[in-house]
Amino acid sequence: MKISIVGGGYVGLISSICFAELGHCINLIEIDVEKASAINSAKPPIYEKGLEELLSKHARRDLTATTDYSGISESDVTFICVGTPPNHDGSADLSMIESASRSIGSALKDCDRYHVVTVKSTVPPGTTQNLVMPAVLKESCRSQCEIGFVMNPEFLREGLAIQDFMNPDRIVIGSTDGREGDIVQSLYCGLEAPVVRTGIAAAEMIKYASNAMLATKISFANEVGNICKRLGVDVYEVMRGVGMDHRISPHFLNAGAGFGGSCFPKDVSGLLSLAKSLGEDPILLKSVLEVNEHQPLRMVELLQRRIGDLKDKRIAVLGLAFKNDTDDARESRSLPVIESLLMKGASVFAYDPKANESMRKILPGVLYCRNASEALMSADACLIMTEWPEFGQLDEEFDLMRSKVIIEGRRILSCRDAEGICW
Ligand code: UGA
Repeated sequence: MKISIVGGGYVGLISSICFAELGHCINLIEIDVEKASAINSAKPPIYEKGLEELLSKHARRDLTATTDYSGISESDVTFICVGTPPNHDGSADLSMIESASRSIGSALKDCDRYHVVTVKSTVPPGTTQNLVMPAVLKESCRSQCEIGFVMNPEFLREGLAIQDFMNPDRIVIGSTDGREGDIVQSLYCGLEAPVVRTGIAAAEMIKYASNAMLATKISFANEVGNICKRLGVDVYEVMRGVGMDHRISPHFLNAGAGFGGSCFPKDVSGLLSLAKSLGEDPILLKSVLEVNEHQPLRMVELLQRRIGDLKDKRIAVLGLAFKNDTDDARESRSLPVIESLLMKGASVFAYDPKANESMRKILPGVLYCRNASEALMSADACLIMTEWPEFGQLDEEFDLMRSKVIIEGRRILSCRDAEGICW
């Protein structure tokens, strides 16, 4: 099928490349000219495992990036994959959804074939029906019999997004009647996964509830981990035993410095804000965020307990990405840690295998190192903030430190001198 995808960010690009791999012809609309031309030249604008190979296979063949919306009228389905960043109050900023919907509507004005507009961005329940649908129909001057609307959330983890797209646990398709849902379902032909057909608002809510559930598991594991540390009990041994209960599952129970990234913090805050606007006071969701805000600062508390006043101390921070296998530093747990270290007068020598540049854009006042050894040289202490496998190999490099105080915010080191945040 011919598919248009609006937004060449993380979700749009991965969906484009994977739909091309499934045999579809992709028209990717990206307003950033440089990004569009990088995609056409098979240069991935982000780091993601497997992306470069698939891009060289499909770019300019069955995947073309453009800044122009007009190709939409030739497509069967258009996916909206633009960002929904948080407003100051935590609610989702839907301005990009609205303008994408209007542009899609105007591109469909002179189109006389049936078309399906599908929302893939994470949006609060009601958005597809109350914002996307009226905007597209108004601009296109067409009726609901001529344009169908579907909500089809994504469940892609950064770093594993291609694998997740190709091997989903489930495909969720929210629609009002069968025809448009069937068309979107047929795009996934070739993937083996249960398909969950729901109403549109339920599909929107499934995405929010899934991310909130995963974030809850992490904050729960961290809270249990903090108690375990006081007891001298290894939380990883505990969670191995807990996760074997099939009703709980072993996933997302890794205690550490908390969750970061562009999704969990934003989506839990979004759900919280939505609940409040409906007159609810979601105590659990508030606590999930509260645990997550305090958790990384425990790294600094532990550090102070070990080396005292941090003024003029040289601290190596290893790991800036919000998790391994990505160059994304958004909402990374190393951010509040570095900010707190700087406030207390320490100098920070930071290193990440992939995310030095993205963190430099957020925090320019830090010394970024080319490798772990450079960061560890003469350091008074080291904090491990991301579970990069290369940190697991570090050993003699720690001998470069002035004093060997090592605190792990992620369970990755094999050296025995390290103290864990909650183990
Ligand atoms: C998350 C979800 O896992 C995806 O299903 C979803 O599609 C995506 O958000 C989204 O909404 O777009 P992502 O943010 O890429 O994916 O990364 P995760 O692997 O879920 O990790 C999020 C954070 O939780 C990371 O900071 C990670 O270090 C932390 N984490 C994860 C833990 O602290 N403990 C765990 O056991 C697992």
